[in-house]
Amino acid sequence: MIMWIEEGKKIKLDQKRWDERFKGKGFAFGKGPSPFLKKHIHLLQKGKILDIASGEGRNAIFLARQGFDVDAVDISGVGLKKAQKLAGEFGVKIHALLADLNTYQIEKEKYDLIANFYFLRRSLISQIKKGLRKGGRVIFETYILEQRNIGTEGPKDPKYFLKPNELLRLFKDFHVLYYREGIFKEGGRRKAVASLIAEKP
Ligand SMILES: C[S@@+](CC[C@H](N)C(=O)[O-])C[C@H]1O[C@@H](n2cnc3c(N)ncnc32)[C@H](O)[C@@H]1O
Repeated sequence: MIMWIEEGKKIKLDQKRWDERFKGKGFAFGKGPSPFLKKHIHLLQKGKILDIASGEGRNAIFLARQGFDVDAVDISGVGLKKAQKLAGEFGVKIHALLADLNTYQIEKEKYDLIANFYFLRRSLISQIKKGLRKGGRVIFETYILEQRNIGTEGPKDPKYFLKPNELLRLFKDFHVLYYREGIFKEGGRRKAVASLIAEKP
């Protein structure tokens, strides 16, 4: 079951666009987790987790299969339905929340882990911090500006790309356990990203 956080509100442009993108049989970003998440799973302690802008669920489902208790929030009902179906195929459950992250309020001190992959809303950073319990961790990866020179993948608007060192600065009050920034070849393709794992003090 998907929980409709904003039932009755008019369908937003983002929702239309992403529903359209996800409506096919295939998985736009694949069924498997982000290589960064998979490689660093040992740095993430089990517990209650929020996957922000979870899309078709590749990371949420991977985490559920590792024993995490997963809330997955996204504006695309189509993506969330596919995610729940795929979770079922793997014999796991995720709690799907349909909501607009421009207005959604993350519950304070609820999560042991918050995952944010390929979605950048700077206004959410303080909410991510508040949403974590003390000692909770954030795992974050998204494109940096160089991505626009190396591929067609990624958003068009420059505001959705991280600037140099920006992700590190955004979490400077956290204990940074891992950080990288640059062009990496993963999953058979090159991409320009910043990736971080950090702990709430
Ligand atoms: C590039 S995809 C990333 C999906 C997923 N994190 C992953 O790495 O596979 C961006 C996601 O953000 C979601 N999204 C876009 N605008 C949103 C909004 N305002 N509120 C919630 N989700 C939104 C889209 O539906 C889409 O699933």
